Amino acid sequence: MAGTPRSFLLFLLLVSQPRDTSPAITHCSPKVVKGILGESVVLPLDSKEMFKNIRWSAPSPRQDEASGRTVPLAVVTPGAPGALPRLDVEDERYRGRLRLYGQTYSLEISNLTMADEGKYEVVQTLIAYNQYICDYPLYIYKRLSEPEIRILSVMAGNGTCNVTFTCSAGVGNETIKYIWTRPAGAPVFSTEVSLLVQHRLGDEDSPVTCTAMNPVSRSSASASPKVACEGPALPQTPALSYCRAKGILVLGVLGALLAGILTVHVLAAREQRRP
Ligand SMILES: *[C@@H]1O[C@H](CO)[C@@H](O)[C@H](O)[C@H]1NC(C)=O
Ligand SMILES: *[C@@H]1O[C@H](CO)[C@@H](O)[C@H](O)[C@H]1NC(C)=O
Ligand SMILES: *[C@@H]1O[C@H](CO)[C@@H](O)[C@H](O)[C@H]1NC(C)=O
Repeated sequence: MAGTPRSFLLFLLLVSQPRDTSPAITHCSPKVVKGILGESVVLPLDSKEMFKNIRWSAPSPRQDEASGRTVPLAVVTPGAPGALPRLDVEDERYRGRLRLYGQTYSLEISNLTMADEGKYEVVQTLIAYNQYICDYPLYIYKRLSEPEIRILSVMAGNGTCNVTFTCSAGVGNETIKYIWTRPAGAPVFSTEVSLLVQHRLGDEDSPVTCTAMNPVSRSSASASPKVACEGPALPQTPALSYCRAKGILVLGVLGALLAGILTVHVLAAREQRRP
């Protein structure tokens, strides 16, 4: 969209000016970049040529109120021989969040917000007044947290149970894909959001795993058809021994009571028999 007026202008420039004085402009093919909300991203620029300056611009750039000029995101100028290049961040929305990445002129943006999404552009002006222009469409996604599995089980008669598992790793995000595997790690079983499993009561358990994926992350959760149909396995032994312990305690108390009563009666009888 925005490329059309620029190429048109370039065309005008080329036809209206003598060839030898017009700057040579090289366009790269746009470099799509994917970032994670709250994390960092690098807009790659591998520059080996000597340059006068590198101007980065952000999506929906700000206008300077006094001069009316468009405020660039940042401007890089070469340092003195042996010194590091200079990075001036001019857009206050990005203050404290920009730096040059490693030993390159790539631009790193940290603490990404959804508002950072959009088309970035770099214009590198070389010593020979030639220009190199490149677009970076930046997309930002959330890192997926562990998906939630909702369970609906119905008895289908004859000792079988129908369980529907529904996986969800966030709402309103169409970029999430789901795959179900069974057992965990096996080849794809289903790519629907929901999975129907038939479980025969008393059969071995065979857990299902849902993996949610988006362009920047993936996350899994598992669920058990057996637990969904038969309930959680009860810890049988401790429950039994608790009952037994209670029984033994009651018996013991009863026994002691009985012994006490008998002793009292016997003693009373002896007292009576004494002359
Ligand atoms: C970026 O995030 C870190 C960690 O959340 C925080 O300490 C830092 O102040 C943030 N920086 C800016 C410029 O927002
Ligand atoms: C259980 O699932 C089977 C297979 O999909 C289906 O034919 C049947 O109607 C279901 N029964 C119940 C009670 O949902
Ligand atoms: C119930 O299960 C038995 C044994 O698996 C089978 O022979 C019978 O046809 C089933 N009945 C129904 C109504 O599905």
